[in-house]
Amino acid sequence: MRILVTGGAGFIPSAIAIRLASLPGTEVLAVDNLSTGDLRKLELEKHPQVRFIKCDVNRFEDISSVFYSFRPEYVFHYAAVVGVKRTTDHPVQVLHDIDGIRNVLDLCKNCGVKRVFFSSSSEVYGEPVEFPQNEHTTPLNSKLPYAIVKNIGEAFLRSYHHEYGLDYTVFRFFNTYGPKQSKDFVVSKFIRAALKGEDITIYGDGSQTRTFCFIDDNIEASTNAFRRNEVVNDVANIGNDHETSILELAHMVIELTGSSSRTVHLPPLEVGDMTRRKPDIARMRALLGRDLLPLRKGLERVLADTTFILD
Ligand SMILES: NC(=O)c1ccc[n+]([C@@H]2O[C@H](COP(=O)([O-])OP(=O)(O)OC[C@H]3O[C@@H](n4cnc5c(N)ncnc54)[C@H](O)[C@@H]3O)[C@@H](O)[C@H]2O)c1
Repeated sequence: MRILVTGGAGFIPSAIAIRLASLPGTEVLAVDNLSTGDLRKLELEKHPQVRFIKCDVNRFEDISSVFYSFRPEYVFHYAAVVGVKRTTDHPVQVLHDIDGIRNVLDLCKNCGVKRVFFSSSSEVYGEPVEFPQNEHTTPLNSKLPYAIVKNIGEAFLRSYHHEYGLDYTVFRFFNTYGPKQSKDFVVSKFIRAALKGEDITIYGDGSQTRTFCFIDDNIEASTNAFRRNEVVNDVANIGNDHETSILELAHMVIELTGSSSRTVHLPPLEVGDMTRRKPDIARMRALLGRDLLPLRKGLERVLADTTFILD
């Protein structure tokens, strides 16, 4: 089974590439333009079944030759410009990702790909209208370019399925964290500050809640959807449903690291900082078939390997 993973040098994509390569009879090709990715995350020396090509999925001439030479049977399209600050500072760059989605889907259609998996985001729900946020009943409320692009991606998948019969799976990822996450995301940022004894900065009063999903839970649930042929032409929220406020997270990090850091409050972000998020994870639980890892345990695992956070 030949599997292509786009964004393969990124946090979640490198983990899925390594996991898929561990399944019997798979060959995995990871592509990435290395904009925010880091090749070390793929640990290529430890995983000879994973290959890597530097490639920009938003440029058709670049990604098309990869498809025509590798002929993937399954595609995990996870490449994207990510991060609240990066995506709000560079909205035009974010909109270019629509080209990548179209390129990948055209090539999937033309190369007879059996199923394409797309990393959508909790951001498609926008500022919440109900809790918990359900894949089918909660209206989408995407306003910012990053969320709109994910929403467009989902519409592309439904349309290519409708017109061309291309099978798909949409994963709506909620905040995911783990040892290889880039240092500009909240968990890594807080841990980095705590380990260095620096102030932990919080936008607003810190009462905004998030749910935090440990990377292994994300990877196990999505790999099971692939292996067991589930969530076909459908959507699954992939996340944890235990809400934690940003202030609680900061205090937990300070306690676990034994840090002398203080929390410092900045004015709330003007855009992009939702008050609350909480997914309905009935499907995720069924995919996972075990309990999700509690935040405290996940943070301990992150603290056991801080190579990327302290980089
Ligand atoms: N981490 C989360 O909590 C979270 C939440 C919701 C959705 N997601 C989605 O999951 C996916 C992976 O995110 P991540 O957190 O691992 O971020 P990441 O930045 O670590 O991974 C994204 C990767 O895509 C690569 N990339 C970006 N544009 C590219 C292009 N045009 N061509 C080739 N490669 C390109 C980057 O270099 C990077 O390696 C993204 O699609 C993101 O939108 C993540």
